[in-house]
Amino acid sequence: MGAELVQAGRGTDSRIGGSGVKTGRGRLIVVANRLPVHRVKRKGRSVWETSPGGVVSALRPLVTEAGGAWVGWSGTTGRAPAAFEFDTIQIRPVSVTAEQVEKYYGGFSNATLWPLYHDCVRTPQFHRRWWWPYVDVNRQFAEATAQEARPGDTVWVHDYQLQLVPGMLRELMPEVRIGFFMHIPFPPLELFAQLPWRREILSGMMGSDLVGFQTPQGAKNFAAACRRYGGARGSDRELEFRGRKVRVGPFSISIDIEHTESTAMSAPVQERAEELRRGVSPNLNGRRKILLGVDRLDYTKGIEIRLRAFEELLRRGVHTVDSCVMVQIAVPSRETVGEYAELRAYVEQLTGRINGEYGEAGKAAVHYLRRNLDFEELVAYYRAADVMLVTPLRDGMNLVAKEYVIAKTDDVGTLVLSEFAGAAQELGAGSLLVNPHDIDGLAATMEVALSMEPTEARRRMGLLQRAVRKNDVYGWADSFLGALTS
Ligand code: G6P
Repeated sequence: MGAELVQAGRGTDSRIGGSGVKTGRGRLIVVANRLPVHRVKRKGRSVWETSPGGVVSALRPLVTEAGGAWVGWSGTTGRAPAAFEFDTIQIRPVSVTAEQVEKYYGGFSNATLWPLYHDCVRTPQFHRRWWWPYVDVNRQFAEATAQEARPGDTVWVHDYQLQLVPGMLRELMPEVRIGFFMHIPFPPLELFAQLPWRREILSGMMGSDLVGFQTPQGAKNFAAACRRYGGARGSDRELEFRGRKVRVGPFSISIDIEHTESTAMSAPVQERAEELRRGVSPNLNGRRKILLGVDRLDYTKGIEIRLRAFEELLRRGVHTVDSCVMVQIAVPSRETVGEYAELRAYVEQLTGRINGEYGEAGKAAVHYLRRNLDFEELVAYYRAADVMLVTPLRDGMNLVAKEYVIAKTDDVGTLVLSEFAGAAQELGAGSLLVNPHDIDGLAATMEVALSMEPTEARRRMGLLQRAVRKNDVYGWADSFLGALTS
């Protein structure tokens, strides 16, 4: 969920034929930190299984069709298995040691770049001892890719963990076409400027022929950084760097609309949604309205401020545990990184405090579910929710917002959306936009959402559905690859 490489959803084959990727443009090699498969235990044996995710579903058929491969980290440490085929796709795992994982993943990717690129909502840590493992792992990815690629192939590198790969790969194989897509925000110049390795990162990314971002602002920020610190010249759309042209542009990501919709319409999901509604309203006349949050347990998501706003809502007394309930689904994430452990402790303390203060026996104010849900269950929650709270402090896109809109096929629901999510660009018209730092404002918006007239909620939902339906994840992949190979 969120604008994630691996998130809920599954592909349909109906759009594959529309892609112009295969003809005469070589094979397609996807390079991403995560593989599209992961290890699971089945009957005591460890086996590979496809990872759920809209992006995975969109890219997999393209790779299969173009006869390429997917290069990525398997999620475990030590010697990686040799390349293998899984369900028509070539998988090429990259080996990373436990020490490298701690430093390039837990350290540089998730304690330096992640907070820096998300508006410094936590202080980024700059450590030279993390930088070199990041360089080494990026080189390992570039080398593995070079072994897979042939001249004329197209390579699509993903996200902040691998920003040096395009530059390294271009040195190893100048004859491949390289695209890079950043799934998270690219920060404004004055924040990016803090990074001690800003020049290296920019020149790594500029090894690409095309660099894509979620929003026009991200693309602008990157182009400005390249001109100011990267030694490039040119416009926001086309840079000149070391005698080559590097194109830059926005390509907003989306979801697998068809799959989300058919899941939402399925009888078991509709029954489950009804069961969830009944479950929070036992023996009450009048239904309790459900406010829902679904996030990775990440400090960029604004979960703690959202909880405090809900507490404020109850304190004001217009709404009580008899009229509403909050459900927060928190997917465990990056638990070895200190800030994540601190956030978890704080969220759990807040949940206890709010329930202690406002809950009653049999009527919790907040249901906090720290777990992974399968897609059907997630969609049932979306359908059950009267108000969806998507209030990240900064987010590349946020696909939960788009999934909610599509899951609400014929129902009335209200989306409360952060101004600082990439999705606000497309969904500004039908949602209730909020400043996710503003506790009083957020509480007031929750109040508005809870008392919205059904006709108004329906009108807004109509606007949202039209906006989301303009593009799905297949369209996103097509437009990026189309631009890269044109
Ligand atoms: C974000 C990133 C992805 C990442 C995902 C899950 O959405 O953009 O690259 O895969 O979070 O995080 P993890 O650290 O578990 O891969």
